[in-house]
Amino acid sequence: MESSLSPLIIKGKKISIPIIQGGMGVGVSLYPLASAVAKEGGVGIVSSACLDRLVSKRTGKKHNTYDATYEEISLSKASGGFVGINIMVALVRDYVDSVRASIDAGADFIISGAGLPLNLPAIQPPKETALIPIVSSARALELICKKWERLGYSPDAVVLEGPLAGGHLGFKMDQVDLESNKLENLFPPVKDMAIKYGDIPVIVAGGIYTHDDIVRFMKMGASGVQMGTRFLATEESSATAAYKNAVVQATEEDIIVADKPGSPCGLPFRVIKQSPMYVSSLHRLRKPKCDKGYVLLKDSEGNFTRCPAKESNENHFCICNGLLSSAGYNCDKEEPLYTVGTNASRIDKIVSVKTVMDELVGKTLVSS
Ligand SMILES: Cc1cc2nc3c(=O)[nH]c(=O)nc-3n(C[C@H](O)[C@H](O)[C@H](O)COP(=O)(O)O)c2cc1C
Ligand code: SF4
Repeated sequence: MESSLSPLIIKGKKISIPIIQGGMGVGVSLYPLASAVAKEGGVGIVSSACLDRLVSKRTGKKHNTYDATYEEISLSKASGGFVGINIMVALVRDYVDSVRASIDAGADFIISGAGLPLNLPAIQPPKETALIPIVSSARALELICKKWERLGYSPDAVVLEGPLAGGHLGFKMDQVDLESNKLENLFPPVKDMAIKYGDIPVIVAGGIYTHDDIVRFMKMGASGVQMGTRFLATEESSATAAYKNAVVQATEEDIIVADKPGSPCGLPFRVIKQSPMYVSSLHRLRKPKCDKGYVLLKDSEGNFTRCPAKESNENHFCICNGLLSSAGYNCDKEEPLYTVGTNASRIDKIVSVKTVMDELVGKTLVSS
């Protein structure tokens, strides 16, 4: 696709459209979305979250995390273009298997946040796969660069995600609305830090919506953008029809940052406030039950047993079940939880990835 935007180059890979479709877990960005974005010249990213269950259900054949991840990357790459995977640090139990399978399957990029991916380069030599941390501050980038330096690796790029993003936010609740945390204010110190550690390309995320937004940030020195919400209600996204409709209907007032009740991962989490699981959680209607275990942490004996949503429904919702339900898994048994970025209120119809990409590269006029 032709574009007035400069290409994005990461680890020698020249991406003609400097737009990365952000990983959206659980089960929103799977191979249909990732390959459609890649086909249009951007970067398609699948989410690693819960892939074992999602791929097992889709294929009718039991897949473990490694096999499911390998399969999803291979399918995404099958029609060409650049594809990668988003692997959240918070998914501690499956992290290593997800990383190994992604490298083995030849993912172009591993993008990793929701925690600091301090050990990512130590898991396995990444070969041609580029390793890209997500940060919310220059300090976090410096910590990662220093640790990775000791491991003999330097980030191939970095995603700076501001507080308007969907999913988990890398800010404390009382920092989300601060002027100093607006993406344009977070950017300069992160750019300086990226230059200090070898001119690492900086990709900005969180609230980017139009072609002009992309141009503005690239003029400031960003090498590219990562966008989630714009791809959430596309035809190729694997969110359920009910989820996409909730995005189309959502107004500014409907989009809140959930804290108490909030995510058991301990980070603020942006949701549509009418999400059935969020509403039930406010009234503590769902009895605590842990039958998925993706966000479990180790106990003192090294076993994955700890999650604050496991025994109490007072302050946390069961994020595994809520998000799986939003992707059409077990929706007869569990209610969905809809996460979105602030810009979901601007989305008023479900369109194809091609329509979105044409608009973003400046081929067609922006809707709202
Ligand atoms: C539905 C949804 C799910 C998301 N899931 C993840 C995720 O699993 N891991 C992650 O690192 N970021 C996740 N994000 C963040 C996106 O990858 C992206 O960086 C962010 O949404 C950018 O902001 P925007 O939505 O304003 O474009 C999610 C975002 C949305 C909207
Ligand atoms: S309690 Fe729920 S959110 Fe926590 S690990 Fe178990 S299934 Fe996941």
